[in-house]
Amino acid sequence: MSVPRPAAVIVLAAGEGTRMKSKTPKVLHEISGRALVDHMLTAARALGPERLIVVIGHAREQVEGHLSAVSPDARLVVQEKRNGTGHAVRTVLEAVGPIDGTVLVTYGDTPLLRAETLRGLLERHAEDGNAVTVLTAVVPDPAGYGRIVRDDAGAVLEIVEEKDATPEQRAIAEMNSGVYAFDGALLARALRRVGAANAQGEEYLTDVLAILREDGHRVGAHVAADHVEVEGVNDRVQLSFARRVLNDRILRDHMRAGVTVVDPATTWIDVDVTMEPDAVVHPGTQLKGVTRVGAGAEVGPHSTLTDTVVGEEAVVRNTVGEGAEIGPGATVGPFAYLRPGTVLGRKGKIGAYVETKNATIGEGSKVPHLTYVGDATIGEGSNIGAASVFVNYDGVSKHRTVVGDHVRVGSDTMLVAPVTIGDGAYTAAGSVITNDVPPGAMAVARGRQRNIEGWVVRRRAGSSSAEAAERAAADRDDPGDGVRADGGAPR
Ligand code: UD1
Ligand code: CA
Repeated sequence: MSVPRPAAVIVLAAGEGTRMKSKTPKVLHEISGRALVDHMLTAARALGPERLIVVIGHAREQVEGHLSAVSPDARLVVQEKRNGTGHAVRTVLEAVGPIDGTVLVTYGDTPLLRAETLRGLLERHAEDGNAVTVLTAVVPDPAGYGRIVRDDAGAVLEIVEEKDATPEQRAIAEMNSGVYAFDGALLARALRRVGAANAQGEEYLTDVLAILREDGHRVGAHVAADHVEVEGVNDRVQLSFARRVLNDRILRDHMRAGVTVVDPATTWIDVDVTMEPDAVVHPGTQLKGVTRVGAGAEVGPHSTLTDTVVGEEAVVRNTVGEGAEIGPGATVGPFAYLRPGTVLGRKGKIGAYVETKNATIGEGSKVPHLTYVGDATIGEGSNIGAASVFVNYDGVSKHRTVVGDHVRVGSDTMLVAPVTIGDGAYTAAGSVITNDVPPGAMAVARGRQRNIEGWVVRRRAGSSSAEAAERAAADRDDPGDGVRADGGAPR
């Protein structure tokens, strides 16, 4: 059967998350390129709810700021005093008014929960005509969780919190995930009757189950196939575990779609990264943000690309890239740093120890070694000699350099911006170019070489250099006999 659209999904995220020991609110901690709460909201959105509601409280400004930027479709409800999960949901219903239809309640700290599992819960809820259906899981260690108490026939009776449970109840391995599908109208009525007479003095949302059952409504459970999905993040150990599980899922999806991941253990890929078939990811690689890798491209080893586009058949090794665009068939690295605004054309090259920023490098152009290219446009088929610097900063402002097509910039050239090198021009190695170079010209801007003959023997007499110079002079005077001559005074 098709799953009916929930009337609302309510995500509880008002808690403090003290065990994270962090200045950052728990639900804003990030895994796989998204805050914990955003993973939950993504799964919730896939269900097409009419309303998406997040309950916030602790570190309210921070969470509000984040959600209004990243999830503007979510309605935020502030729970001033954290008086329990039941109180949180009651606060929502008081703020937004009655909700008819199915209300799904879940948490902001369960990033592994998949939309498919939530759909399974909604399906069970609709098929069985329940007033409430709770998502449960059988876990190896249920300590800390609420336990699902069933009768001999297996019908759900109630949920008992660990702190309120008898020793027999504590032995139950079926835990409450904290995720439920409710009938909205019945939920609102039951919540008014939830008290706080329990070990924690809180309004428990879990009490709604027993209340509805006692009123003669149908109460059911849906057991999650994989308990890992419903385990929340409470500390940084669980955070790293969730990150590992999510990453493995992401890698599996890419591999099944035709991407080679050489070493899944050291490869970390954010949720929004896309890759085409026959892309290869080598060990120690992180692909972050909205990075896209084209067909047959190779990335890594040891590369971190953020919001970067890698064209098909490009090769990117030992590189850090941020906001860069690498053309098809281009090669980058090893040991390159591509900063935002780098656009490398088809079959271009950015080689070893090269840093680029805000630079367009045309088709087939090469910056092979030890160079900084900042604020520049380089045409097609040009070559930038080793150890050149695009001197873009005069200490106050940044300026642009324009290099034409088929230019040959000699090694160790300083291009002092603003400056333009015309098409087909050359610059002599070691030049400091401060004026424009016309197309086809050779620009030489360096001191002329002067050799002071005999300087070393005169001024560094007795040194190993002087001895070597003397031997060379003797060999020159008496070539071919192979006998080492002594003396041979310099001119
Ligand atoms: C709750 C359940 C428990 C279940 C467990 C699963 C209750 C009474 N118990 O226990 O049966 O096994 O979750 O993880 O519901 N929150 C608010 N406002 C509040 C209190 C909590 O928004 O006033 C939010 C928290 O941010 C958190 C979630 O609700 O995301 C759960 O709260 P928490 O206090 O951790 O409940 P547990 O004691 O873990
Ligand atoms: Ca919890």
